[in-house]
Amino acid sequence: MEKTGVPDMRVTIAGVELQSPVIAASGTFGYGIEFDEILSLQKIGAFITKGLSLEPMEGNQAPRLIETSAGMMNAIGLQNVGVETFVEKKLPEIRKLRGAVCFANVFGFTIEDCVAVVEKLNEAEGIAIYELNASCPNTRHGGMVFGTDPGLLEELTQRVKAVSRRPLMVKLSPNVTSIGGMALAAERGGADAVSLVNTFVSMAIDIETRKPRIKNVTAGLSGPAIKPIAVRMVWEAARAVKIPVVGMGGVLRAEDAVEFLLAGATAVQVGTASYADPRAVEKIATGLRKWCEAHGVGKVSELTGGLSS
Ligand SMILES: Cc1cc2nc3c(=O)[nH]c(=O)nc-3n(C[C@H](O)[C@H](O)[C@H](O)COP(=O)(O)O)c2cc1C
Repeated sequence: MEKTGVPDMRVTIAGVELQSPVIAASGTFGYGIEFDEILSLQKIGAFITKGLSLEPMEGNQAPRLIETSAGMMNAIGLQNVGVETFVEKKLPEIRKLRGAVCFANVFGFTIEDCVAVVEKLNEAEGIAIYELNASCPNTRHGGMVFGTDPGLLEELTQRVKAVSRRPLMVKLSPNVTSIGGMALAAERGGADAVSLVNTFVSMAIDIETRKPRIKNVTAGLSGPAIKPIAVRMVWEAARAVKIPVVGMGGVLRAEDAVEFLLAGATAVQVGTASYADPRAVEKIATGLRKWCEAHGVGKVSELTGGLSS
């Protein structure tokens, strides 16, 4: 195909314009501030903070992160500084990062927790979008994960959306039978966008000691191992809803991002890749621009849902 000059890399999610569809995923990019010296935060679409809870959390005991042949398993246990410290200590630093876009990832063990975290964040400047992590166990419902019950997910979304002063993107768990049904439940609850996938429940055993390799026994699998499943899930979710879908799961290169866009994603997130190369998100954003240029794609947004049969 002919080259068409500099491609337009802008995408819009829930009314928020990003200069690139490549976003740093929650839990793999700290609070963004840590990466300011490593890469150009202005060259990526946005970064998403580590999940924020009402109270600070220490997370699980080690070992809580191991490498697999094609990915990573983690049971960090949602360690974070808590919403109050985030607003008081981290956000002022984030606001100094001129031209960078921050999304805040939110979770709670009850609907009321999630509502309280969002209410606290509402008071502060410097956040573009809330990403609500629905993969967290709900203590009021016997530990059932919010994101595995469509009724509960719709209620959670509705209650958080009712107080939210910013666009709400609901992050879906892939550990479900019908991802389309869950995306639809979030849309019905008033979500402005959905993001998927979070990690897959997994397990590894040390055959010499016969003990689980992760102290928590089960852990979330991420990285290249999950990419084909994630692409299928993004495709199913995008066919089920009208709101934008943000895809992720094993994006390592620009070509992986293109695959997610063709499956129906408006933007992509990059997680595990940042562990192997802390500059990965910027490299993928630049690589995607070059890919569009080389393939005569004038606007990156034209790739969304461009799968041919
Ligand atoms: C170490 C680690 C910590 C994570 N923490 C969070 C988190 O706090 N909140 C969240 O919504 N997702 C979290 N995730 C999930 C990622 O954001 C992403 O959904 C998942 O890893 C799949 O993308 P990837 O294959 O590019 O890593 C975490 C992932 C990893 C590897």
